Amino acid sequence: MRMNHFLDIHTTTAPDLRAIIDNARAMKDARKGRPRGMADDDQPLSGHMVALIFEKPSTRTRVSFDVGVRQMGGQTMVLSGKEMQLGHGETIADTARVLSRYVDLIMIRTFEEATLLEMAEHATVPVINGLTNRTHPCQIMADIMTYEEHRGPIAGKKVVWCGDGNNVFASFAHAAGQFGFDLSFTGPETLDPERTWLDFAASKGHPVTIERNPDRAVEGADLVVTDTWVSMHDPESAKERRHNQLRAYQVNEALMARAKPDALFMHCLPAHRNDEATSAVMDGPHSVIFDEAENRLHAQKAVMRWCLGR
Ligand code: CP
Repeated sequence: MRMNHFLDIHTTTAPDLRAIIDNARAMKDARKGRPRGMADDDQPLSGHMVALIFEKPSTRTRVSFDVGVRQMGGQTMVLSGKEMQLGHGETIADTARVLSRYVDLIMIRTFEEATLLEMAEHATVPVINGLTNRTHPCQIMADIMTYEEHRGPIAGKKVVWCGDGNNVFASFAHAAGQFGFDLSFTGPETLDPERTWLDFAASKGHPVTIERNPDRAVEGADLVVTDTWVSMHDPESAKERRHNQLRAYQVNEALMARAKPDALFMHCLPAHRNDEATSAVMDGPHSVIFDEAENRLHAQKAVMRWCLGR
């Protein structure tokens, strides 16, 4: 079996990322009009077992991976980190070695990036990053696919991120470098993204612009993106302070009006309506948030095929 881990956007080559997106779109087209539970004509995961490990809550990642595996002929087992020995002292390395004797592919959503990397180092089957505190590559693959479905190639477009420089932003910064778009960050200095993420985009010739004024940042944008103000790994005690810091960066109709008339709006969900984005924007003409959610399914199916060399 070929071993392709899908750990991050910056650690996957640009041609492979492009092939995954193109394949995702082709697979989506091929099953247009079918009930969700009906199998694809092509069954590349036939006879394959996939472990889906969650150390954090999930709706989209859990359901889209599960459905995607089944559509491609495979089977899944969904495991909660707490219920596994992993949550009771067994090492990640031993867990990886053991799971590799039972399953053909592992998807893990975890807290520390180090857990993902250790899992990948010791697994003898492909490992997929289903989100860590630092990155969320599957989400951004779905987002690139969604943008291109609606507006064509994302290369050269202006993408503006409003709010917290979090793990989803990190994967956008990596994608800016790999797919060649111009990314701006607008948010308070206290919630700036990590320097290393910006350095990656810059190293690929697409430096990220930082603009503190959201009105100026969104001027002429092709795509406006935001995310929840308090991430799953942020302490509850930080909520009020974060809300105060981020209120000025809410995506509302007035802010969207500064973007291009045909600009798209994205949010990876779950959202806190009328905090980071108003319902008028989320349900408005620019919004493609539910296409993004659907495309998690198609993008991840293509990621799994790539991981397995199929
Ligand atoms: N966007 C996303 O990853 O959603 P879930 O947390 O529901 O999986």
